Amino acid sequence: MRAVILVGGFGTRLRPLTLSTPKQMLPVNGFTMLERVVAHLGAHGVTEAVLALGYLPEIFREAYPDDTIAGVRLHYAVEPEPLDTGGAICFAARSIGIDDTFIALNGDVITDLNIAGLVRQHRSFGGEGTVHLTPVDDPSRFGVVQIDDDGRVLAFIEKPPAHEAPSNWINAGTYVFEPSVIERVPPGERVSIERTVFPAMVADRTLYAVQEAGYWVDAGTPESYLKVALDLVNGVRSAEQAVASDATVAFDAQVTESIVGAGAIIEPGAVIERSILHPGVRIGEGARVVDSIVGTRARIGARARLTDLTVVGQSVEVGANSTHAGRKLPG
Ligand code: GDD
Ligand code: MG
Repeated sequence: MRAVILVGGFGTRLRPLTLSTPKQMLPVNGFTMLERVVAHLGAHGVTEAVLALGYLPEIFREAYPDDTIAGVRLHYAVEPEPLDTGGAICFAARSIGIDDTFIALNGDVITDLNIAGLVRQHRSFGGEGTVHLTPVDDPSRFGVVQIDDDGRVLAFIEKPPAHEAPSNWINAGTYVFEPSVIERVPPGERVSIERTVFPAMVADRTLYAVQEAGYWVDAGTPESYLKVALDLVNGVRSAEQAVASDATVAFDAQVTESIVGAGAIIEPGAVIERSILHPGVRIGEGARVVDSIVGTRARIGARARLTDLTVVGQSVEVGANSTHAGRKLPG
């Protein structure tokens, strides 16, 4: 089975972390988001994946010089200009000559979805495409999907106005497609899968969906990126080692429910709670970092306070004694 992984977006909502690193190359407790996604695909029988690239493509190529992740062979399709989700999937699928049932997915979704099971259900529906659906409290920032008792999609509405969503089951961003979907997008055209291709398939009655409510997070915002990483160490999803073995934590510093990346240094009296420190970060004496994300090699001055989803970009220096709540640094 082959898969197309969308990884070409600008990651705007995760700036400044994504100014120099594409969203899917951000670390999620020691592995990149992409490595987590590809390993999951590999565990469900995917042997080859093509990365649909646009923004900072060379960072992906350089990170995987042997073109494999977890035994899955990687291909790269770099769009000459952003083709949007539908254009990008079809450009990438054409680039490796996909001519059989395939998987396509948003590369910022971390899930325990049974992908092999989704493929089986797709085959039993006999349609052109099958979408995984997950329930959320606020559907307005997602694609909202209404189905009938047979699993056929009756309506696909991308990002409906608040309170107008017909359902709280949303497009969870993993699809099984027949190759005929590729023909729905003219080569080189900028087309949204959610706004154009899916509504056309709904009209043709060839789109199906499966509701599966297991672990699922779109890691595309500071809040959800923080959640997806911390869930790996706080027991919600697993209980991985949270502090890199070569990080240095002063004996009287406090680190609670947080991730401390490789080579990070935490000086005496610092307090880190529910936060992510990327590799090489230095936290000064008595600083407090709460519910926040600190980018690679950034330095937080002594007694500085970062709270409420403050996001510090790569290599940024935050002054001693400064206070930041809900800020992006640089803003
Ligand atoms: N190659 C390429 N080219 N990739 C792109 C492009 C493009 O022009 N635009 C976006 N992407 C990639 C992003 O990098 C991301 O992996 C994926 O496509 C989805 O884009 P997002 O920007 O993360 O979309 P979203 O989160 O607002 O909404 C999407 O995901 C939701 C579920 O997480 C939609 O598919 C919604 O319908 C869905 O509910
Ligand atoms: Mg997203």
